[in-house]
Amino acid sequence: MRVLIVGEGGRESALAAKLNSDSRVSEMYFAKGNATTSKFGKNIYENDIIKLRDFAIKEKIDLTIVGPEAPLVEGIVDEFQAHGLKVFGPRSRAAKLEGSKAFSKKFMQTYNVKTANAVVFDSYEFAKEHIAKRTYPIVIKASGLAGGKGVVICEDHAEAEATLENFMIRRIYGDAGIQVIIEDYLEGFEASVIAFSNGEKFFPCLPVKDYKKVGNGDTGANTGGMGSVAPSPEFQDMHAYDFHKNILEPTLAGLKAENLQFKGMIFFGLMVTKNGCHLLEYNMRFGDPETQSIMALLENDLLDVIEDCLEGKEVELKFKDEKAVTLVMCSGGYPGTIQTDLVISGTDKVKHSQLLYAGATNSGDEVVTSGGRVLNLVATGATYEEARRKVYEDAQVVKFDYAFYREDIGKF
Ligand code: AMP
Ligand code: GLY
Repeated sequence: MRVLIVGEGGRESALAAKLNSDSRVSEMYFAKGNATTSKFGKNIYENDIIKLRDFAIKEKIDLTIVGPEAPLVEGIVDEFQAHGLKVFGPRSRAAKLEGSKAFSKKFMQTYNVKTANAVVFDSYEFAKEHIAKRTYPIVIKASGLAGGKGVVICEDHAEAEATLENFMIRRIYGDAGIQVIIEDYLEGFEASVIAFSNGEKFFPCLPVKDYKKVGNGDTGANTGGMGSVAPSPEFQDMHAYDFHKNILEPTLAGLKAENLQFKGMIFFGLMVTKNGCHLLEYNMRFGDPETQSIMALLENDLLDVIEDCLEGKEVELKFKDEKAVTLVMCSGGYPGTIQTDLVISGTDKVKHSQLLYAGATNSGDEVVTSGGRVLNLVATGATYEEARRKVYEDAQVVKFDYAFYREDIGKF
């Protein structure tokens, strides 16, 4: 079987490593991949949907898996399906649940998916009037895709005013800020639940804890994720029950009512408050770095699960009874401006963890940095502490200039 994976992060490296252990996979291609995926197959440098479609036809690709949100929202699945290509992911109409926060909030409200109270604005003047009447903190979100940066928790009116101006007038995230969502601030802990969908039902993976803030103790700017732990130690059976009843089931009902069913992944970004689980967002894809920890524990054959979903079959997911910890090593300056082309060394001394490159690429005989989140170290153990010790021991031997990582991933 010939597989194409679209994407270039640690998530795609984890998917590639998992698929590589399957003897049915004969060839893997990655668009555009990274320094890990190049070990498992061939990296190709197309990112245009039409060119990727033509590549898949020409190379007789049997299955395409799409990692990131942008091509999904742009309609890669629609295009591939229209040409008879097998592809795992939602069509653009369903991917809009991630691509437009205004659309997804309206969906949640219509189908009683428990979420923070919110108002959507496309008028700057009305939004400004609204923030003058609020008590703080509040949360302002740009509706469109903004690379995970379009959400600001505003502590006071001045910050809210500046945020509205940045999003709606200065358009720092371009068209993503044409509409904004202003919502109640929720206090609690976050959890990511990622589920496979066979078009009819969802099959959730273990709940994962993602570490979103750049600094130890959850301080500083929001990032794409500085580490992950599975299963989340905070998300208990009672939360799972609440999640199924108030979020998962109403979401399924809404997808059916709107004819938005899909075969792919759905990711529920949750905030669990003292009043239960609230949905912050849908992502219509595998999470990064959640996938790295999930794949380390998933006992099923990934290809079987994906194929069963594509055929509308039931899936029974099985996970190792262990803990997984993923540590993200970043380049100095992340999530702001970073340098690239820094040489990465010491990786041959990594002993206890799986090393998955993310923003790192081959350059001659060397591997150099090409992004902010450079590489992931993933380990499992009987306890969080055991898994944690492994990744932190290995983090000490991997070197590149200005490297940094959080010290508290998996520490409870
Ligand atoms: P989102 O992209 O909507 O998931 O928001 C990104 C991050 O902002 C979340 O992971 C939370 O850390 C934070 N956030 C979003 N909405 C809220 C909210 N209503 N209350 C508190 N924090 C929030
Ligand atoms: N880790 C959050 C995401 O994948 O969006």
